[in-house]
Amino acid sequence: MTCTSASEKPILGIETSCDETAVAVVAGGRRVVSSVIASQEQIHALFGGVVPEIASRQHTEILVSVTEQALQEASSTWSDLGGIAVTNGPGLIGSLLVGVSSAKAYHAATGLPLVGVNHLQAHVSANFADVCDIPLHEADLPAICLVVSGGHTDLMLLRQPTQYELLGMTRDDAAGEAFDKAARVLDLGYPGGPAVSQAAELGDPAAFAFPRPQVADTLDFSFSGLKTALIRQVQQLSPQKQGRPSAKHLDRQTVADLAAAFQAAAVDTLVRNSMEAVKQTGVARLAISGGVAANQLLRERLSHQCKLAGVAFHCPPLELCTDNAVMVAIAGYHMLRTREPDNLNLDVFSAMPR
Ligand code: KG4
Ligand code: ZN
Repeated sequence: MTCTSASEKPILGIETSCDETAVAVVAGGRRVVSSVIASQEQIHALFGGVVPEIASRQHTEILVSVTEQALQEASSTWSDLGGIAVTNGPGLIGSLLVGVSSAKAYHAATGLPLVGVNHLQAHVSANFADVCDIPLHEADLPAICLVVSGGHTDLMLLRQPTQYELLGMTRDDAAGEAFDKAARVLDLGYPGGPAVSQAAELGDPAAFAFPRPQVADTLDFSFSGLKTALIRQVQQLSPQKQGRPSAKHLDRQTVADLAAAFQAAAVDTLVRNSMEAVKQTGVARLAISGGVAANQLLRERLSHQCKLAGVAFHCPPLELCTDNAVMVAIAGYHMLRTREPDNLNLDVFSAMPR
């Protein structure tokens, strides 16, 4: 089924799966007309991580004004749009409910077709945006996609914009989760990923030898061993051996070295499995997405390895790696072209984590 109105008119995307309230208007499945992201980072930083109840309340307070701003910046009214796409999972249940309920209300009021988008598919779709250095096109597919976020570390084979096959996933912690936990152990604050990579800039990655865990005969990941190795190292270096491991007594250079060694090990693991997926499938195209894809070392290492292997490399700009609504609108565009809209049947429970 092809919904022509959706392909001609821009799609409004809504993202509220975690702690970013985001709304965007995207035309033709790639042209970013407007993108508004209201981050709750500063609120959750006080607690050292996302507090689900606070996150959903915050979405409730600001989603309407973020939507109005996105429409205003796009110089659009509801009648200019071809459809609405909203993340309906996986994510924090309360946060998802705010986005989905609002999208249903907008659908009921405007009659625009409405689709629910899987958050991981949305991350992958960021690579189609025209603001990417080298945007992915439908004709380029298949491609290998590494989705690395706070909740997921997945290697996928993307056959069509809406059709993918899982090649590998994490057996325990997600890569972003590991970065966040490392930042907590090193007393670097929240969100952990950017804090660890910033501290790592002054550090020596060879100062500590951390493991590069491998799950035999699969493309799966495991980060809990790396996290434990970091905790043990901090414990060993701390004068106080009991209680919660803390880097409070360590000097700045040691913390920087620990951050650099941790980052190098995590990035090595991600690069190794991604290039292995390219080799095993023979698909000479790799795209990355998700919050951890904003990591500079990961971007540089993958870009370099792809160049050496003659593999095309795609990565979204930083603001489209972390949670945003452009990616949701793009995924929604492709869904509206290929299937009936969900309209009021959207269900956040059916899209819960695997
Ligand atoms: O995709 P995202 O915004 O939200 C989820 O869907 O989870 O990803 C957030 C994750 C957090 O764990 C954060 O620490 C990590 O992405 N992250 C990074 C960097 N920027 C964000 N990890 C490593 N290096 C970064 N520069
Ligand atoms: Zn995400």
